[in-house]
Amino acid sequence: MMEIVKMPSEMTAWSRKERSLGHSIGFVPTMGFFHEGHLALMRLAGQRADKVVASLFVNPTQFGPHEDLSNYPSDVARDCQLAEESGVAVLFVPDAETMYPEGACTTVAVNGLTRNLCGVDRPGHFDGVTTIVTKLFNIVQPDLAVFGRKDFQQLVVIRQMCRDLNIGVKIVGHPIVREADGLAMSSRNSYLTDSLREAALSLSRAIQLARKQTASGERDPGIMAASVRTLIDSYPDTAIDYIQFVDQHDLKAVKTITCDTVLALAVKIGGKVRLIDNGFLLDKDS
Ligand code: PAF
Repeated sequence: MMEIVKMPSEMTAWSRKERSLGHSIGFVPTMGFFHEGHLALMRLAGQRADKVVASLFVNPTQFGPHEDLSNYPSDVARDCQLAEESGVAVLFVPDAETMYPEGACTTVAVNGLTRNLCGVDRPGHFDGVTTIVTKLFNIVQPDLAVFGRKDFQQLVVIRQMCRDLNIGVKIVGHPIVREADGLAMSSRNSYLTDSLREAALSLSRAIQLARKQTASGERDPGIMAASVRTLIDSYPDTAIDYIQFVDQHDLKAVKTITCDTVLALAVKIGGKVRLIDNGFLLDKDS
């Protein structure tokens, strides 16, 4: 039976006990409203560790003032059931007052990597992510943590943070989980009406187009960005935030496409729903 834990001290005590019994702990941090993408992370954690902990916490510090914190989708009862079915031993569900008590004044910030891509439109977002992930790692004390590659910049930033701060948690990336028609799974897809969902397909189709172009020998990111832009613009209700061809390690824009190049996209659908997607263009999955 899955346990639901609300207090950090109780969570840490549970982890200490499991570790003293020789059990390794795999951790999946989430903001809830689970879909198959989250459940795949939980199952992978279960394959790599003896016990799985997932957290469900809609972290206020990673949302900007005009973002969707107040109406972020939530269904905790359903999440509990799905997490249990996916092999989670403990679901850690702290509240905001516990995680950010009055007087808290420490932020964990990763420089450089957080400045481009989503960092441009969402200033402060990654500071919120790295701060909460550090806190969760300290509370849960996992051996490894699994993150989805849909949030590619987040994955790279967290890996860098663990290196820089000597955080001994192994970071495991999971390939993007997609709907049958290619749409990358996201809790924010629940905001999409039928017609906006069609527009949302522009992201995965743009990645497919870029892959086709590289397969036929194109290596110029400028030329490819232009055709990706044309394709996305051909869908109604799309507004491009960015189309970037970046190196998978430093997230800097590349001058030529190689097997380390990731095409990263952010597009606002219907003026409100900001979706991201990404993919390697040569010889890689996701
Ligand atoms: O990817 C997410 O859902 C969040 O950014 C995370 C890692 C749970 C931190 O709040």
